[in-house]
Amino acid sequence: MNKWFTEKLVLIYLICIPFLVYGAHPRQTSTSAPITVIGTGYVGLVLGACLADLGHTVTCCDVDQNKIEMLSKGVIPIYEAGLHEIVLKNLESKRLFFSTNICESILNSSNIFITVGTPEGKNGEANLSYIFDVAETIGKNLHHTKTIFVKSTVPMGTIEWIREIIEKNNPTKTPFNLGYAPEFLREGSSVEDFMHPDRIVIGADNEETADIFALLMQPLLDQGVPLCRTSIASAEMIKYASNSFLSIKISFINEIADFCEKIGANVEEVALAIGLDKRIGKAFLKPGPGYGGSCFPKDTLAFLKAAEKYGIDLNTVNAAVQTNSLRASKIVEKLQSRFGSLAGLKIAVLGLAFKEKTDDVRESAALKLIESLQNKGAILKCYDPIATENALKVLPDLATFSNPLDAMEGADALILATPWKEFLELDFQEVYNRMKNKFIFDTRNLLDEKSLRSIGFEVESIGKKNH
Ligand code: NAD
Ligand code: UGA
Repeated sequence: MNKWFTEKLVLIYLICIPFLVYGAHPRQTSTSAPITVIGTGYVGLVLGACLADLGHTVTCCDVDQNKIEMLSKGVIPIYEAGLHEIVLKNLESKRLFFSTNICESILNSSNIFITVGTPEGKNGEANLSYIFDVAETIGKNLHHTKTIFVKSTVPMGTIEWIREIIEKNNPTKTPFNLGYAPEFLREGSSVEDFMHPDRIVIGADNEETADIFALLMQPLLDQGVPLCRTSIASAEMIKYASNSFLSIKISFINEIADFCEKIGANVEEVALAIGLDKRIGKAFLKPGPGYGGSCFPKDTLAFLKAAEKYGIDLNTVNAAVQTNSLRASKIVEKLQSRFGSLAGLKIAVLGLAFKEKTDDVRESAALKLIESLQNKGAILKCYDPIATENALKVLPDLATFSNPLDAMEGADALILATPWKEFLELDFQEVYNRMKNKFIFDTRNLLDEKSLRSIGFEVESIGKKNH
């Protein structure tokens, strides 16, 4: 028997152990061994639904009973393009299941993905308590060899801690494989990102773990997606380095935007021309009110904290964080220099989510801006196509409207804070008629300034000389 054939036989044996021991999962309909995804948030739900769509049988688990009940009925708790269809399709074809019984699901699976949150904790460090809880649960329920893949974003050394926790809590001392497969999807395009990624990364300390992962991802690899097989330490570094590099790019273009304003240059022209240099690249050179979301702010801080422990100064990352923290106040300053005191000023805000195509408001620059303006005494009236409900959980007293034009009635200023494409479709003549004072601050450089000026608006934007 040649080496390749022996290796494949071992892999098939490993993947099939639960079948041999317990028989097939009672709901099993696909040919592959069952997968458990622990943590059914943005990442876990998209991962579970997409793995099911690739042909695997997947149970997504969560401690949130309400969420699991909704999902079992096909109700999706988050807004994500294409996700609803994929969940319904795979629920129907009995490849996708939802459960709060994490122990049972672990027992019935060959492969486990950990996708629980790693939010900002004490002093900016990542809070690893959820992931360590899951490691303990896996250890206690590990009676047969399984392969565990961590997808949550974790600092350097965490995968080894997870290994120790599983071992410590496993009375049967069952051997297991452990790998780190960092996730790179973006909210708003996560299904598309999962199905057509730029690359897939698997960090593992043995070939077998990486081979099992590659088999699970085979349909994507068949499309030509590059698979980076790395050590665990490299994979941990890749995730934080990627998010930090993108954050640096955004903060860099925001600083250039400020400079452009001083010298009369146009940051859009500058970003396009520098981005056409393939060594720089066009993506992530959009200036604005600063990056937000559940990842860049927390991951850059956690990266800095992790580096500190090793005596490393990540000066570039630190600078990106500092620059980002000043973006909202720069916008407030511009408004103050235009209007003087903001007390009593009626401001309409378009967009509450941290970016377009999502209902997520975590670390949203729009909300930070709104809070600063409220603190200066401004009266805010807001609209977002889908993030209003989530925004009200953070700022319960916010005046929100279901029609954007109603938010603008009698306004002294209009701020565009999230670059929803649908804002381009607004009837700006009607906006003009409704507003008391015809001033628009486009913090995302989305709108066509020339046509707004031709209607009679005074327009302020980012990184351009405003006339
Ligand atoms: P999330 O907050 O949306 O979801 C986390 C889920 O885990 C929640 O539903 C929570 O109830 C559940 N959970 C917590 N403890 C649990 C436990 N013990 N057992 C089972 N479930 C438990 O988080 P998210 O946005 O999906 O992020 C998950 C991880 O992926 C984070 O580390 C994040 O940094 C990383 N990540 C997120 C994105 C993104 O776009 N959101 C992209 C790449 C990586
Ligand atoms: C980001 C990364 O892009 C993903 O690869 C990564 O997986 C994810 O974080 C994560 O680790 O969770 P996401 O936060 O969903 O994804 O959104 P992005 O599209 O990256 O935008 C982040 C923030 O930067 C938003 O506030 C956005 O408006 C802002 N941004 C983005 C800019 O201000 N300018 C740009 O040019 C691009």
